[in-house]
Amino acid sequence: MRLTRLAVRDWRNLHHAALGSDARFVVLHGDNAQGKTNLIEAVWMLATLRSFREAKPGRLVREGAHRARIDGTAVGHTGTRGMRWSLQQGTRKLRLDGAAPSSLSSWFEAVRAVLFCPEHVSIIRGGPDQRRTFLDRAAFTAQPAYLDVARDYRRAVRQKAALLKSPGTTSAQIAPWSDRIVDLGARVVMARYRVMTQLRDPLRDLYTAIAGTGRGAAEVELSLRSLGGEEDGLQAVRERLRSAVESHQQDEQRRGRVLVGPHRDDLVIRLEGRSARAFASQGQARSLVLALKLAELAAAHARGQAPMLLLDDLTSELDRGRMGRLVDILAGLDNQVWLSTTDPSWLGPLPSGEALRWRVEAGQVFGEGSTNIAGR
Ligand SMILES: Nc1ncnc2c1ncn2[C@@H]1O[C@H](COP(=O)(O)OP(=O)(O)OP(=O)(O)O)[C@@H](O)[C@H]1O
Ligand SMILES: [Mg+2]
Repeated sequence: MRLTRLAVRDWRNLHHAALGSDARFVVLHGDNAQGKTNLIEAVWMLATLRSFREAKPGRLVREGAHRARIDGTAVGHTGTRGMRWSLQQGTRKLRLDGAAPSSLSSWFEAVRAVLFCPEHVSIIRGGPDQRRTFLDRAAFTAQPAYLDVARDYRRAVRQKAALLKSPGTTSAQIAPWSDRIVDLGARVVMARYRVMTQLRDPLRDLYTAIAGTGRGAAEVELSLRSLGGEEDGLQAVRERLRSAVESHQQDEQRRGRVLVGPHRDDLVIRLEGRSARAFASQGQARSLVLALKLAELAAAHARGQAPMLLLDDLTSELDRGRMGRLVDILAGLDNQVWLSTTDPSWLGPLPSGEALRWRVEAGQVFGEGSTNIAGR
């Protein structure tokens, strides 16, 4: 799928900007603090209805303005769709082809994206919650309905935790929440497991493709740290979860915490048998995250989907060899790629005639037409 047009009004520092983007590569370049990431964030907002930076909704509206708006034209398997997101006084309004969308899933069917931004190195370096979020996001991209399962599960954990903390709660009061944790939790585990198995092989290949085979290359492995038995299916996972919840019941009541369930799981990433979290160099961690995101695209491709790839600011920390190999991979994809960078020269050769360059300066966007970046 492609976003063929993007227009924003009073979004972040962008007063009014419109850009045609009917190309395989859309390159946003300019100096620091001009609005490049804000534009990538606008695309992500259309795709996921969320910001990828921590932001109070009000901060999305340009200072001094009352309302922010993002318009996009998405071309994908559901046809050409006009999408409008707007925010006024904390209230979000959506328009799909001029009318309120019948459901959020109909919105999410129209546009899908995979995002890389520099902060995502926390998927490798950070705590298990970062990796769970990554898996959940990937499961959502694969199947937007997963959003409801993950949200209902989190809600059940919060409810049960609140009961466990409040004095005088009886086992009978807790039981229905344990049941929900078992039912929803098993579905969460299976969705994550499916995503993990779909990512495993492409990740190995793509990591090697970026890292090359020389020094610093390493074999990468993925596994899910959960209760186990996922290969036996949903029912088996549910049974395991149920017996684990039951055997920890007293412990949970004593400690006032929900100790069992996929909110405690982790995605284990290993480089040559060692934990990538502790062992990967900065460049290896960066390459791993990029390979994970590209593996998401490969998995989507296998499912017959082609989400957009949004790459915010990956100018630094990859050596020349890795960067060249990454650009080769990008050139070989059939997905639309949005890139932001302070220095487009690092991009090297993108396929000629397939890249649109836009210069971002002080919240304004200036077109430079379709260019072969290699020729510049
Ligand atoms: N609501 C808002 N109103 C006005 N300006 C804002 C708002 N939100 C963010 N900004 C400003 O937008 C500017 C551009 O931010 P952005 O992150 O897009 O820069 P960038 O071009 O990606 O820069 P860099 O190369 O440093 O990453 C920042 O100076 C930021 O303070
Ligand atoms: Mg930026």
